[in-house]
Amino acid sequence: MINAVDACMEAGIYPETISQMIIQIRIQAKEHFEQEEQLLKKMGFSEFEYHKKLHDSLLTQLGEYIEDIKNAMAGGSRFSDFLSSWLISHILTEDLKYA
Ligand SMILES: [Fe+2]
Repeated sequence: MINAVDACMEAGIYPETISQMIIQIRIQAKEHFEQEEQLLKKMGFSEFEYHKKLHDSLLTQLGEYIEDIKNAMAGGSRFSDFLSSWLISHILTEDLKYA
């Protein structure tokens, strides 16, 4: 999905199509985060509030990307670079704390 967004941008696909794809990514991420947060709560994870803030921050940023793209102001950074680096960083640093 993430690579598909970049492919669309490079192919000059309409911003509305791209924003719809990112909306779907955001929906899937939100569902995943909610499940993870339920698990962390059950576990009594000591950094739950901090971890949830990181999830919320990504969802906010995705929302901002959607608005930017809708306004055809996506900027210079590639969406997949942003999201990939966020996910890798989050999984390797934060998610491992409860693994
Ligand atoms: Fe997480």
